[in-house]
Amino acid sequence: MSENFSAIAYLIASIFFIMALRGLSSPETARNGNMFGITGMVIAIATTLASPSVVSYDWIIVGLVIGGAIGDIIARRIQMTALPQLVAAFHSLVGLAAVFVASAAFYQPAAYGIGDFLSIPTPSMIEMSIGTAIGALTFTGSIIAFAKLQGIMSGAPVIFSGQHLLNAVLGIIMVALVVMICDEQSEQLYWTIVGLALLLGILMIIPIGGADMPVVISMLNSYSGWAACGIGFTLSNPALIIVGALVGSSGAILSYVMCKGMNRSFISVILGGFGGETSTTGSVTGDRNVRAGSADDAAFIMKNASNVIIVPGYGMAVAQAQHALREMADLLKKEGINVRYAIHPVAGRMPGHMNVLLAEANVPYDEVLELDEINRDFPSTDVAFVIGANDVTNPAAKTDPQSAIYGMPILDVERSATVLFIKRSLGSGYAGVDNELFFRENTMMLFSDAKQMCEDIVKALE
Ligand code: TAP
Repeated sequence: MSENFSAIAYLIASIFFIMALRGLSSPETARNGNMFGITGMVIAIATTLASPSVVSYDWIIVGLVIGGAIGDIIARRIQMTALPQLVAAFHSLVGLAAVFVASAAFYQPAAYGIGDFLSIPTPSMIEMSIGTAIGALTFTGSIIAFAKLQGIMSGAPVIFSGQHLLNAVLGIIMVALVVMICDEQSEQLYWTIVGLALLLGILMIIPIGGADMPVVISMLNSYSGWAACGIGFTLSNPALIIVGALVGSSGAILSYVMCKGMNRSFISVILGGFGGETSTTGSVTGDRNVRAGSADDAAFIMKNASNVIIVPGYGMAVAQAQHALREMADLLKKEGINVRYAIHPVAGRMPGHMNVLLAEANVPYDEVLELDEINRDFPSTDVAFVIGANDVTNPAAKTDPQSAIYGMPILDVERSATVLFIKRSLGSGYAGVDNELFFRENTMMLFSDAKQMCEDIVKALE
């Protein structure tokens, strides 16, 4: 295959990747987006395989079979709630791949057309050393993120004095080493950069706590993209450069959107120390009374309502209650009740978590509204039906400057006539903050697993 032809094929693949990102930006077009992504990847792989520089297919086939089989098994078995740690695990592999490719190019530069061993031209050396450093950092950082999310290590921030100073000093040493290796190439310098980046990856992620982890995942996603982009320059592969830049920039934008949804600055997330996952019933519970109700009570209240807004959260995902919930909503709609869904930007544990689950249960898209679109409607709503959500409804975000979630925009469920809360206890959510709403007069707690309660309400409605 001529170089021109493969350049055009890579360009076409890149256009498909851009269309994939566009498609994935809305649940309505997400399936098409996925298909564009698959098509782009097939074109990119076929173009690479047809390249004259491929001397043997043996190892490529072994790699494709093993990697494809692992990917297939994981994709079939993975629980929706475990996706964030899966993404972290996959990012670690992208980082490791970047280190391997850069190391191969460092020892055999002639094979990549970038000079000879220890006399690689400076521009290539800059790309390679930056790609290696970001790759190594992404590798260990993603492993720590995976371990925290999987519960292998504590999700609480690991903090010690002088931490930020240490990270800053190591970061400066890293930049100095990259400058030095461009000036005088040596194996020792190369592996020192790799070792230091591996250490920095660990040190950067350990101080980051539970509630900030999803931001970290998308940040690592962004890093893995930039590592791939750097390696794309080393390999002179335009598809890798474009895709790396797309992943790098979209990951950075996603991190920003999540930070905005939680009203946290990006810098404070990176500096860490927030959001230990301390699920307590905490101080507000004390001896105070809550009004607990049954499925029959909930069915009665909703049957007599004109407007119901459903607020789903992480608990709905855990219970996989979306299908039973839609069944309940269908029955209410049959009674002439106006039912809509309110989605908080950080409800659940990853961006779009609730939208994906509701789409899976065939909830019509026009009933699903974002916080900005629906928040003003709560005062004129009869029932806010909160299913497995907690932090995203907590008024402490507006009223308590000491609260860890202070400043986060919330869904104003308490302004509706009645608030129904399905959850199993008075326990807190991800941020470990107690919710005053459980004790309000217009709140009724429905203590149960979310799916079970929805099924019971469906029976009561029927
Ligand atoms: P949370 O505040 O985490 O609350 C979820 C609630 O679901 C828990 O209080 C839990 O109470 C309940 N629950 C768990 N399993 C259940 C089950 N089987 N049935 C019924 N209820 C169940 O969730 P949220 O309101 O969705 O807020 C999301 C949190 O994650 C926020 O703090 C947000 O900042 C953070 N976060 C999210 C993202 C993204 S991108 N989504 C990113 C960063 C941070 P019980 O144990 O009492 O049942």
